Amino acid sequence: MEPFWCLALLLWGQTGPGTAAPTGQSYLPGTGRFWHITDLHLDPTYNLTPDPTKVCFSSKGVPAAHAGLFGDFLCDSPYTLIESAFSSMAPLTQPQDFIIWTGSDQMPTSTNAIYKAAAEFWKPWLQTEALLTLSQGTFFIRGFYTQLVKPGLRLVSLNTILYYGPDKVTHNMTDPAGQFEWLERTLDKAAGNQEQVYVIAHVPVGYLPFVRNTTAIRQIHNERLVAIFRKYSHVVSGHFYGHTHRDSIMVLLDQQGKPVNSLFVSPAITPIKNLLEPYSNNPGFRMYLYNSGDFSLLDIWQYYLNLTEANERQRSDWRLEYIMTEAFGLADLRPQSLLQLGQSFWPPQTKAFDKYFNQFMVGYNSSIVCEGSCKLNQVCAVLCADQLSYSKCLANGERMLF
Ligand SMILES: *[C@@H]1O[C@H](CO)[C@@H](O)[C@H](O)[C@H]1NC(C)=O
Ligand SMILES: *[C@@H]1O[C@H](CO)[C@@H](O)[C@H](O)[C@H]1NC(C)=O
Ligand SMILES: *[C@@H]1O[C@H](CO)[C@@H](O)[C@H](O)[C@H]1NC(C)=O
Ligand SMILES: *[C@@H]1O[C@H](CO)[C@@H](O)[C@H](O)[C@H]1NC(C)=O
Repeated sequence: MEPFWCLALLLWGQTGPGTAAPTGQSYLPGTGRFWHITDLHLDPTYNLTPDPTKVCFSSKGVPAAHAGLFGDFLCDSPYTLIESAFSSMAPLTQPQDFIIWTGSDQMPTSTNAIYKAAAEFWKPWLQTEALLTLSQGTFFIRGFYTQLVKPGLRLVSLNTILYYGPDKVTHNMTDPAGQFEWLERTLDKAAGNQEQVYVIAHVPVGYLPFVRNTTAIRQIHNERLVAIFRKYSHVVSGHFYGHTHRDSIMVLLDQQGKPVNSLFVSPAITPIKNLLEPYSNNPGFRMYLYNSGDFSLLDIWQYYLNLTEANERQRSDWRLEYIMTEAFGLADLRPQSLLQLGQSFWPPQTKAFDKYFNQFMVGYNSSIVCEGSCKLNQVCAVLCADQLSYSKCLANGERMLF
């Protein structure tokens, strides 16, 4: 895999004309909303040529046989796809909304100049202190920062690329770039100031849902991060990640098994898949509804573009895919509700899980079924973020399934 770079960006929503907001609860008093977009992956070489091997550089010579105006499942995003996503988001956005963007763009990880350039680029949106943290560091890149979004709500943007397998430089370090230490200090301070925190990052904490026993970041760094998140779970109201390109949830349990945090992995804008991969995703972005008193998460409106249909019609109709509480009959998205959902996935029930799995791929292919060990990997990834609990989950699941 190529090295890539990511940072999460916070920006204020622009005023949109005729703000046709999603239905129902978005108008409830005492709530706020924000948007999450991730993994845009612009491929500037995308072009509709007669030779399918030359449609996009990102297919690496594999024929992109279904290429259309809005892309192909073997390519990264053409500009028209990204443009259509933002154009459909704009009229849904209200002036008080904010947007989080959790990467990623293909860039080298090894140079500090990139982070300095990013800090320069994001000057209009970030406070001075956040800009300093972001671009500081001499040998090791940092790329993390914190910023108050509104009174009582703090954003902590982590650079989890520092813990990512392919980043060899940080391989043997107990605390790359001092981020763990900074994170604890930041969460301590937030607790002291009676703030609640949203954690955002590109690569998620916890286990990957589509493979067995594999953490998204390095295992050793995952254990440390989970320990910090457990210790400060009372300060954190939500976690928001990207990177996998798929739609998934996790619930962080404390060592007694009590649900303490809600975690969300948002699906990508890019539809790209590897030729040999069975799964892909339709392009998606989402909006969250939160309680503006305690900043707990109440709901998700997930939007998507049916790529096949958009190419056929040469028109991009981004639609609401689901409203999370309605799809699963949940009261809200607080940790207790996500635990209840995760537990409803266990056999013999299949209905909730089948829906969840179809959403995992943003409706890419409803003929793909996930049962047996495929399902066990998914369910354990929802319920367990650390090695001990994950191993127990697998063992319990194996007993139940086989
Ligand atoms: C990490 O440590 C191991 C064992 O001590 C060593 O073999 C490896 O070369 C080290 N890797 C890096 C990138 O320093
Ligand atoms: C997407 O559109 C195709 C072609 O019109 C259709 O076969 C498929 O069922 C649609 N998928 C979803 C998730 O709507
Ligand atoms: C959808 O999945 C089924 C079952 O795995 C497979 O046979 C079919 O080719 C897939 N369709 C597409 C369009 O990839
Ligand atoms: C999972 O992987 C870890 C090492 O990464 C290993 O120690 C553990 O035994 C594995 N667990 C299972 C159930 O395979």
